[in-house]
Amino acid sequence: PGKRPLQNKKVLISAGPTREALDPVRYLSNRSSGKMGYAIAKAAQKAGASVTLVSGPVNLPAPNDIERIDVESALQMYDAIVPRASAYDIYIGAAAVADYRPAEIQPHKIKKQQTDSVIHLQRNPDIVADVAALARKPFVVGFAAETDDLDTYALNKMRDKKLDMIAANWVGKLTGGFDSDLNALKVFWPDGGKTLAMTDKQQLAEQLIALIAERIDEKNTA
Ligand code: PMT
Repeated sequence: PGKRPLQNKKVLISAGPTREALDPVRYLSNRSSGKMGYAIAKAAQKAGASVTLVSGPVNLPAPNDIERIDVESALQMYDAIVPRASAYDIYIGAAAVADYRPAEIQPHKIKKQQTDSVIHLQRNPDIVADVAALARKPFVVGFAAETDDLDTYALNKMRDKKLDMIAANWVGKLTGGFDSDLNALKVFWPDGGKTLAMTDKQQLAEQLIALIAERIDEKNTA
């Protein structure tokens, strides 16, 4: 691999949180600034790839020369990703997708009651798992954001979702994870792994892209 190891490759990346509407003014969401996913998009482009970024609501400018598709909910993100993923060489799921959505979206603002209230939640489909299950599937990289047992949960996610690689990060700590400009990753693939130490997200993204490029080369020459 030279300086542009992803030359002629098409890369699809998800970033940011999703918002799951309760009514016209309220939603449930996950913590994510989009910084990690946007940094990966820029790193992939720098490596020569043509990049499509599917982004949840974030306060970041669209990177130059990157096609950005804006979505809000997990179902919208699903529709923006799964039907087009077969046309890509690599899919990287850095978005913090909500696992559940309110079973019903109320058409009018919910009025305050005198009593406590219960929200019924319905499971969202798993985007990265469904991309990995496509007949013509890209090289699929998932993320795992964990507050405990990072390696175990990440390895289980890689196996259960049939991923080619998983990038695991601690969340809810003082440094790294969501919102921060810094992060660290433990990257696993089925027969190996590598720890990427705490650094700024752009540096980290370039290291992750280099690892992905190496793995794809190995797969193609194996
Ligand atoms: O955006 P930042 O502020 O920079 O923070 C970055 C980050 C911490 C959000 C990012 O590095 C990260 O870890 N993203 C994944 C967050 C997450 O939702 O992880 P998870 O362990 O819940 O999900 C595992 C994988 O399944 C992820 O690739 C996720 O995109 C995917 N998933 C999850 C649920 C779902 N319904 N569909 C999915 O595709």
